[in-house]
Amino acid sequence: MSGTSLASSAVAVIGTQWGDEGKGKIIDMLAEKFDVIARACGGANAGHTIVVNGVKHVFRLLPSGCLHAHAEIVLGSGMVIHLPTLLEEIELLKAAGIDIIPRLRISHEAHILFDFHKLIDGANEDDKTKTGKGIGTTRRGIGPAYCDKAARTGIRMERVSEDLRGDLSERAALLKRTHGIDVDIEAELQSVTHAAKLIGSCVTDTVTLLADRRKSDKKVLIEGAQATMLDIDHGTYPYVTSSATTVAGALQGLGLPPQCVSQVIGVAKAYCTRVGSGDFLTEVSGATGDRLRERGGEYGSVTKRPRRCGWLHLPDLKRSAMINGCTCWNITKLDVLDTEEMIFVGVGEYQGKATYKEFSGWKCSTAGMTAFDDLPMEAQKLILFIEQETGIPVRYIGTGQGRGEMIVR
Ligand code: GDP
Ligand code: IMO
Ligand code: MG
Repeated sequence: MSGTSLASSAVAVIGTQWGDEGKGKIIDMLAEKFDVIARACGGANAGHTIVVNGVKHVFRLLPSGCLHAHAEIVLGSGMVIHLPTLLEEIELLKAAGIDIIPRLRISHEAHILFDFHKLIDGANEDDKTKTGKGIGTTRRGIGPAYCDKAARTGIRMERVSEDLRGDLSERAALLKRTHGIDVDIEAELQSVTHAAKLIGSCVTDTVTLLADRRKSDKKVLIEGAQATMLDIDHGTYPYVTSSATTVAGALQGLGLPPQCVSQVIGVAKAYCTRVGSGDFLTEVSGATGDRLRERGGEYGSVTKRPRRCGWLHLPDLKRSAMINGCTCWNITKLDVLDTEEMIFVGVGEYQGKATYKEFSGWKCSTAGMTAFDDLPMEAQKLILFIEQETGIPVRYIGTGQGRGEMIVR
């Protein structure tokens, strides 16, 4: 085993906008070349969609590479895991002919996200919405689960087979007092016991496991969830998620050392979307926004909420690239712009408003294209502009939902 192979055994795929860039699709495409596919942080607030042979699969807790039968699947220490959702995903895969349990490894350090976390998330959102300060969370309990983790009152996966009645009763009494929330202790206990029976054997020390795999030259693909502008530190706080969504966060979440990452693929849509509240400098309303939403199918894969749509904003991509050390871009959903007369790219800000560079649209179909040279000149110009402005090569260009609909340069 050489030092070089150890040093370059992981590739990370990281969202560089506000999520839903199409991380799932490139993960699914790259997965066959990797031995291990790992999620590091976050929970079932993620919704990663892939389309294979016309069939749509949405992944929430499991990585999008699961359809590849060879790969070992890791849920890392930084995750917050809602067990019924995980079991549901496992069942869905089973129905598609894939038994994931024999190759699923769940960190004993990951936290269990209980139904009561979802209740708190919902109650907090309802309260804040009344005063116009709602974050617009996915209501999947993410913030409250990470609160417990930081307060050191969380329950980790290592305890999944224990009797948690005492812990949950204490918690239920407190929540009743502070939030007026009724915790269904029996239902919570039943769901943990059920999960322990089915996946208890998957719980392990994934940090050591990843180190062992790297020692035997196995390749690790890190599937980022959420995105850089939703990062708890570097995102548009407070309109962010509660985990570290950057490559540094992914390494922390998996217990991997920094030098193991050889490539960081920054994923960005050719335009931009956001679900939930918070600033969005290049947001467009009216017919153009509606057209982008309809053509791009921009409705939340978790919550079905319509996504806010707007133009690409290069300063955000530059900042994300700076934070993550992106080595290349995957620009996704270029085909969504096929019908646009004019395409705008945000290049800066003046007096609180975005400034734009305008591009002529190409007004023809790029759907399903796989060669850069086949793209209309106007589309090539747009890609080359992104490359030139960010100083980072665009290696992958998405031209459709399907597995093969990608230009690789
Ligand atoms: P993720 O959360 O980053 O994995 O992205 P989502 O799955 O939430 O949203 C991306 C959506 O765009 C999904 O419905 C994908 O099937 C779709 N998609 C991904 N890449 C492309 C592309 O290049 N073109 C088109 N038209 N759709 C794409
Ligand atoms: P993927 O992995 C898009 C957003 C929510 C909300 C904020 C906080 O599919 O790209 P949370 O439930 O995390 O407390 O919500 O973060 N958000 C996402 N937006 N894609 C995601 O994941 C998201 N995960 C969280 O909409 O604005
Ligand atoms: Mg998504």
